[in-house]
Amino acid sequence: MAHSLYVTRRIPEAGLKLLRESGFDLDINPDDRILKKQELIEALGLRQYEGVLCLLTDTIDREVLDATQTARIYANYAVGYNNIDIDEAKKRGITVTNTPGALTESVAELTVTLMLAITRRVAEADSFVREGKFEGWAPSLFLGSDLLGKTVGILGAGRIGARVAEICVQGFKMRLIYHDVTRNEAIERELKAEFRDTPEAVLQEADIVSVHVPLLESTKHLINAELLRSMKRSAYLINTSRGSVIDESALVEALKEGVIRGAALDVFENEPRLAAGLAALSNVVLTPHIASATEATRSEMAIMAARNLIDFFEGRVPRNKIV
Ligand code: DGY
Repeated sequence: MAHSLYVTRRIPEAGLKLLRESGFDLDINPDDRILKKQELIEALGLRQYEGVLCLLTDTIDREVLDATQTARIYANYAVGYNNIDIDEAKKRGITVTNTPGALTESVAELTVTLMLAITRRVAEADSFVREGKFEGWAPSLFLGSDLLGKTVGILGAGRIGARVAEICVQGFKMRLIYHDVTRNEAIERELKAEFRDTPEAVLQEADIVSVHVPLLESTKHLINAELLRSMKRSAYLINTSRGSVIDESALVEALKEGVIRGAALDVFENEPRLAAGLAALSNVVLTPHIASATEATRSEMAIMAARNLIDFFEGRVPRNKIV
């Protein structure tokens, strides 16, 4: 009998094809949009699904887990899994998987894109040209700041943080400081990274801070008003991890008051909504959670999610098992 799976939103064909070829029976949300929680609960109740392929936009909490007693695995199409109540899944003996590695390069590249975009005021300058305001070269038009030789501060030196660090050090000859709950000896050895034992110590010293921690109870609002005030007035903040790691309202105030010079954000605390006042600021670059959005990466993520499901139903431990 084919294993029945519910797919909460269409993902790249490469993953779906792999699943079909492996004999899965797929029901895919027919609408290319995020399902509301009630819609997801209803969809999961329609059949006795054995597994679910879900997205970071699906909140998989107790109520959703209750919607199907038969699903034994939730394969998240993302590296982050803060959308899933992991403790509850574990308690119920439900397996959860994610897609680490597949998106490291794309996320790191977008992070560096944002660093350059905010320090060189690319979005502001682009709007200026489109609005017909460009009257010719001028000595002080859109002056920004170079990355070369500056200090980059990495919060969270896992795969993505370490790759961002590498590009900064090798590409822009930046000095590297970092904080993580565990030390990354490879970057200390290979990139001369200097460990700091608190996030505050990184924020106080860095010219540009890039956030790469997962969203956990302990990292929610890790960067709050107080920590923002400890940063240099000339510093920039980049976030491609999860919005709630930063207190977004506090950040808006800090940017308004010139506490820091700018921020570039790919993720937001209440996606897709933005904190009041954020979009009106000129010293921000805002992108719609696209760090992993390249054709190759999204396909690779789909294949990885599919392989996790195949592993599970063929009796192996899924290669990216979380619980
Ligand atoms: C992830 O996989 O967690 C990313 O946020 C997707 O872009």
